[in-house]
Amino acid sequence: MDFQEIVAGRRSIRKYQEQDVPVQLLDQVLEAVRWTPSGGNIQPWEVIVVKEPRTKQALQETLGGYNPARKAIIQAPVLLILCAKVKIPDEYRKEKDVSTKFGDWWYMFHLGSAAQNLALAAHAVGLATVMVGFFDHDKARELLEVPAAYEVLLLMPLGYAAAAPKAPPRRETSEFTHSERFVSTISTAKQA
Ligand SMILES: Cc1cc2nc3c(=O)[nH]c(=O)nc-3n(C[C@H](O)[C@H](O)[C@H](O)COP(=O)(O)O)c2cc1C
Repeated sequence: MDFQEIVAGRRSIRKYQEQDVPVQLLDQVLEAVRWTPSGGNIQPWEVIVVKEPRTKQALQETLGGYNPARKAIIQAPVLLILCAKVKIPDEYRKEKDVSTKFGDWWYMFHLGSAAQNLALAAHAVGLATVMVGFFDHDKARELLEVPAAYEVLLLMPLGYAAAAPKAPPRRETSEFTHSERFVSTISTAKQA
């Protein structure tokens, strides 16, 4: 698969086969998280690998009944939990100025990048996943005994896809690309 195929061909998968995830492939997926870029190279991610059916069941209960990924939480042989360190260590704060108006740790951004690396790596090795962000984060945190300095941000079922859904539509590049200033899009710039 070339890069464009990996990026555009990755889908959110909510139905999985029973087949287990080989350890080597799981390692490759985690390796992709390892190489995620982060501001100041802070690497604020932690990943919990959940396989126990009872834990998956308890985590499923943290999702709302409307969430289309409910079944996937249990069905996928592996459930990856992406956590973020949300408090900047004092020694780090002294060393580097990492403050911006968006909060001084940017952990949502960094975890988003890690999740995308994970999803693309999974797809590249023939596995599938879905980013599940809508659940009771505090309940999940308590259940997984995550320390106070961290938050549970995403649940990512991992396994072999049992369905091949169509890609949800995307905006054209011309709809979000602007030329020189925000107000003029590429398409209007071309017309001018
Ligand atoms: C931050 C984030 C949170 C998401 N949360 C959920 C979720 O709770 N349940 C779910 O079924 N899908 C969830 N998704 C998957 C999106 O619905 C999906 O990425 C989007 O519809 C595009 O489809 P595609 O991933 O197949 O291209 C989430 C995606 C992101 C990036």
